[in-house]
Amino acid sequence: MIVRRERPADSRVVDAVHRAAFPTDVEARLFAELREDPGFLPHLSLVAVDGDHVIGSVVATRAWIEPLGVPALGLGPVGVRPDRQGRGVGTVLVHALLAVAEAAGERLVALLGDPAYYRRFGFVVSTELGLDPPDPAWGVHFQARALADPTPRGTFRYAEPFSRL
Ligand SMILES: CC(C)(COP(=O)(O)OP(=O)(O)OC[C@H]1O[C@@H](n2cnc3c(N)ncnc32)[C@H](O)[C@@H]1OP(=O)(O)O)[C@@H](O)C(=O)NCCC(=O)NCCS
Repeated sequence: MIVRRERPADSRVVDAVHRAAFPTDVEARLFAELREDPGFLPHLSLVAVDGDHVIGSVVATRAWIEPLGVPALGLGPVGVRPDRQGRGVGTVLVHALLAVAEAAGERLVALLGDPAYYRRFGFVVSTELGLDPPDPAWGVHFQARALADPTPRGTFRYAEPFSRL
């Protein structure tokens, strides 16, 4: 298996991966909208490929830390084809995405997800870094990973398509 940037020819199968991975089509539709959004960063849409098959996908898009409008990243969706889950593909994708983001000079990545899964990548509850979630009800499920020191403080704002969820 290799991890590489998503290419234009991958978009249909990436869509299929997210439709298969999640119980509803919400994430696939979100991904499609993110692709058309100014916050889409092509170098931060990665796929896991086994032979000729895309088996997983992860994306991070431009987000902001308000009120100062400091650039940050929002991670997600991340999905692995159901028949390939639980074998380390998601782990490799998230590590790769964080490495690319750090190399590109990004300062912080945030996401909404299960802390039990994401803590292994260095994510902590966002408020530990002085970062408030867009919705206070998200609580411990809104997590952040610092890529620089010091990390910007404030309130996180995702790329626009997330607000239509
Ligand atoms: C979540 C997902 C991307 C992880 O990818 P993966 O290749 O299956 O995961 P890995 O094999 O790298 O890691 C397996 C570990 O993740 C855990 N895990 C998998 N999905 C999880 C989830 N939704 N919540 C919490 N833990 C999860 C497994 O229990 C396992 O933990 P362990 O290492 O302590 O045993 C993948 O399972 C998936 O696409 N799930 C459906 C879509 C989804 O829930 N996406 C994430 C939304 S936040």
